[in-house]
Amino acid sequence: MAWDGVHLFECPTRVFYGHGASATTGEQLAALGVTRALLVSDPGVAGAGLVERLASVIGAAGIGVAVYAKTEQNPTTVNLGEIVGLYHSAGCDGLVGLGGGSAMDAAKAAAALIENGGSIWDYRGKDLVPRPGPPVVCLPTTCGTGAEVTFVVVITDPSEHFKIVCAARNLAARVALVDPELVLTAPPHVIAATGADALAHAVESYLNVGSDPLLDALDLRAIELIGANLVSAAYDRDREAVGHVSLASLIAGIAFNMNANAIVHAASTPVTARHGVPHGVANAIFLPAGLDFLRPACEPKLREVALALGADAGGLDVAGAARLGVEAVRSLLCKVELPSSLREWGLDPADLDIPTLVEDAMQSRNIATNPRPVTREDLAELYRVVAG
Ligand SMILES: [Fe+2]
Repeated sequence: MAWDGVHLFECPTRVFYGHGASATTGEQLAALGVTRALLVSDPGVAGAGLVERLASVIGAAGIGVAVYAKTEQNPTTVNLGEIVGLYHSAGCDGLVGLGGGSAMDAAKAAAALIENGGSIWDYRGKDLVPRPGPPVVCLPTTCGTGAEVTFVVVITDPSEHFKIVCAARNLAARVALVDPELVLTAPPHVIAATGADALAHAVESYLNVGSDPLLDALDLRAIELIGANLVSAAYDRDREAVGHVSLASLIAGIAFNMNANAIVHAASTPVTARHGVPHGVANAIFLPAGLDFLRPACEPKLREVALALGADAGGLDVAGAARLGVEAVRSLLCKVELPSSLREWGLDPADLDIPTLVEDAMQSRNIATNPRPVTREDLAELYRVVAG
């Protein structure tokens, strides 16, 4: 209901999106007063030539550049220590995060540590970062995480096999440059998996107990764009389709940043932390089963998901249309050849320590936000279902 209370909406990051947006990185840094930037990226993005290309764009604007391209797939506390050290030794005064969620999260988290000191564990939880760090400009090279606009960072402590989640307004990037040209270099399976992550963000934000009419509008549009474009974005590298999925990822990021995700992200995150399943792939595996669990509590909204994905719900009652919504999600993920179980991804179900995964998942902020309350037994059953 729109008028049952006061709703907050904010996106403090300045967002520029469209083909060619990355070419303005130098002028954006100059406008923020940055004279020497630390460009944070990862080996895959560097291998695709994007780090070198962006470094020369920044250099052409008269701004110095130091490069850290060793961010791991799930950024670690070790990566953060190295980034903070290089920032100081190279005399930087701003950061650029270029990559998927990992590099952008690493740049955002490092900025917080540069200003506030301590360890990332000190900021675990909600709104515990006292002051904003030096300016961060984020450029996504995938179409899924929304990290360019979220207040969230996820950092793995390898000694604990645990993902530390920090959500704070002071973690937001100052500027996001969403340029689909950067995504066109990603391999099809990366576009598919990160697009699935964006779909999970949009659907989980839409079903969330913290949803509201403004966020609903954003989430439904993101779902619609992904449904219509993910297949040709991944397999045809269609320029316009990649642009639409990039936009959907941005829209979903802006939306879920204001509420949260739900059981899918809560349950998938420990599997990523403990077994190395990539974030997008893990969410693709958990999404249909997670929606099956939530379905009894949100049938009218799952009917809307079915319609947004282009399914024909004519003649179906709301319960049938909700089932169709879950099937439409399952079918889209299947079309882009994402695994439907952990076994299919290559993880032996016997290797899953379900009681430990359940305890990790119960610590997620995405447990309390589900439209249907989640118990430990519900999570254990979900893990058994997705194990395959
Ligand atoms: Fe995600």
